[in-house]
Amino acid sequence: MERLDDVNAWRAYADAQRAQGRRVGLVPTMGALHAGHASLLGEAKAAGDVVIATVFVNPRQFNDAADLRGYPRTPEADYAVAEACGVDCLVEPTLAQMWPDYPRPTSTTVSVRGVSEVLEGADRPGHFDGVASVVAKLFAITGPCRAYFGEKDFQQLVVVRQMVRDLALPVDVRGCPIVRDEDGLALASRNVRLSAEGRTRALALSRALGAVSGAGTASGHRRRMLEVLDAAGVEIAYAEVVDPLTLAASGDDEEGERRALVAGVVEGVRLIDNGPVTLVTKESHALSN
Ligand code: PAF
Repeated sequence: MERLDDVNAWRAYADAQRAQGRRVGLVPTMGALHAGHASLLGEAKAAGDVVIATVFVNPRQFNDAADLRGYPRTPEADYAVAEACGVDCLVEPTLAQMWPDYPRPTSTTVSVRGVSEVLEGADRPGHFDGVASVVAKLFAITGPCRAYFGEKDFQQLVVVRQMVRDLALPVDVRGCPIVRDEDGLALASRNVRLSAEGRTRALALSRALGAVSGAGTASGHRRRMLEVLDAAGVEIAYAEVVDPLTLAASGDDEEGERRALVAGVVEGVRLIDNGPVTLVTKESHALSN
């Protein structure tokens, strides 16, 4: 496995792969690699791509300095995971290379309006500008590729897809299923900051989604999810049902497949989760019963 920290060497590596007729698969990460990341790497590998994994804790997407300071950094363990997953090139760019002006703001920021402004975006000002800007830069350096993102960060996936469409970037964005621990907790790098008790409480997020696995109205689903989160003592950020492409909140007059998203804070750790959900109106629910 190649290990690079230089942006020009990384660009040259990707160019050389394409020149030899290979397709590049990019897996952007912030490190602290876990089985969720391994599944993204596995999908890229299974697709036959030359896999480039990037590890960069992007300070511009943290709206909370304490969260950035406490973000787990495990470079040697990340190396071992990347190697075990068959990564061809692990790139760990320095802050000076990615954001030479940091901590001064960049002159150029990628802002994806609409889908960035709701849910996580409403609670974390500037977060998705930071994500879109760094992902645009990762794409610009890597060049034409397939890029793999987890559905765990569902809104991030929607934002990246919208950016790629709007800017006609030569990137095929692939969303990969959420990986969960046996108890149902969606894998996330921040989970290591939870105590055993906090972890038990955090399970309410996946339970809330499980509680809306049957068909129902948007408001009924919202109410049920809020009840589960509240009963577990989660500091609730939101429990929403939305259109999976636009992230517009669903109304009770809607039917069909939508996305349920929940977010909350446990022991100071922000947790998110999501899953598919089916909407029916009260009228068609009554007719089918
Ligand atoms: O999902 C993440 O780990 C990050 O938001 C990403 C996509 C690597 C951008 O920093």
